[in-house]
Amino acid sequence: MTPLAELLADRIRRFGPITFADFMRECLYHPVHGYYSKAEFKRFADYYTSADVHPIFARLLARQFAEMWETLGRPEEFTLVEGGAGAGRFASQVLDFCEAKLPVFYDALRYVAVERSAARREQATVCSKRHAAAGHFASSAEVPAHIVAGCFFSNELVDALPVHRVLMESGALKETFVGFRDGKFVDTLAPVSTCAISEYFAAQNITLHDSQHTEAGLEACDWISEIGRRLGRGYVLTIDYGHPASDLFDEHHMRGTLLAYQNHRASEDFYSAPGEQDLTAHVNFTALELWGKRSGLETAGFTSQTACLLALGQGNEFADLYDEGQTEAEHTKARLQLKMLIHPEGMGERFQVLAQRKGVCASPLTGLAGMSPSISG
Ligand SMILES: C[S@@+](CC[C@H](N)C(=O)[O-])C[C@H]1O[C@@H](n2cnc3c(N)ncnc32)[C@H](O)[C@@H]1O
Repeated sequence: MTPLAELLADRIRRFGPITFADFMRECLYHPVHGYYSKAEFKRFADYYTSADVHPIFARLLARQFAEMWETLGRPEEFTLVEGGAGAGRFASQVLDFCEAKLPVFYDALRYVAVERSAARREQATVCSKRHAAAGHFASSAEVPAHIVAGCFFSNELVDALPVHRVLMESGALKETFVGFRDGKFVDTLAPVSTCAISEYFAAQNITLHDSQHTEAGLEACDWISEIGRRLGRGYVLTIDYGHPASDLFDEHHMRGTLLAYQNHRASEDFYSAPGEQDLTAHVNFTALELWGKRSGLETAGFTSQTACLLALGQGNEFADLYDEGQTEAEHTKARLQLKMLIHPEGMGERFQVLAQRKGVCASPLTGLAGMSPSISG
């Protein structure tokens, strides 16, 4: 039993089974024992993200943010809010690149790295100290209350938001709670804890198959609605692995998409080592589209990471990949890292890019050139 397992077991013994969303929230975000509350370097044993592969990921997206700023009519201040910014690696890569290569945009850029983990916020502040001193960077536990003009960006945030687990059984929707019996956490079926779960599926016209297990990402719905409310004019750019609802809940996903990660290995052992393994569920992009619309976000495009990065890099034949004074061997290594980001069998097709806009004319973004204008195609 980990220290967090002891705490959770005690809570369940006293008050009864808890929803999986509550269990997952504690496992990931408990202020002392949560997986994401621990020192950031430990995560490399379990997973890495696109920003860890090569700065080209941030550099290409920086060009996209600069284009958004142009589309908004070059406002004096462009607020770039990154949700789930971790230790601030992506933020510092964007800021360094803009300062060096896009100085006029950099003057307008105000980067806010939003991160729930205090330890990671601190690391992000150290990482971008120089930009903070110049007024271009701040870290925060909260999304700013009002973003006048800008973009809300996230990479692998939404897959880390807590989900409820459900099961369709003989035509009735049940919820899988977390109980504790004989010294172990166990699945406990009961009626759904909130009518928001039934509404979640009804709003998407989804009828689950009999015996289908899946997840309801209610927190992601609240999150996107809130972002829409806080955004005055601009964009929301979400990169994550996931699917439209029509795929996510089809007969190929009868066991749901929830996975636990430890030591680069995925498992369905969600209850082992609470606080010491990552838990993620695939993102439902249809839900982000629908709940975004409720607060004024229109879909600007939906595409794969491969297509997005290729479209952004083709303009200058990926010249942003290289740094001055690098050797041919370093160039070769950088090209291999780029391949990992865009190759369909690497991260390229696993990750999807959803762009939503509010109060901006419908001019196409380079990163979404020729792609679906909506999630359903
Ligand atoms: C999988 S990590 C991704 C980190 C980073 N975006 C990257 O690409 O390396 C998810 C991060 O989101 C943070 N997070 C989760 N929910 C959050 C929330 N509601 N507000 C701010 N940060 C959150 C976690 O603490 C964690 O650092």
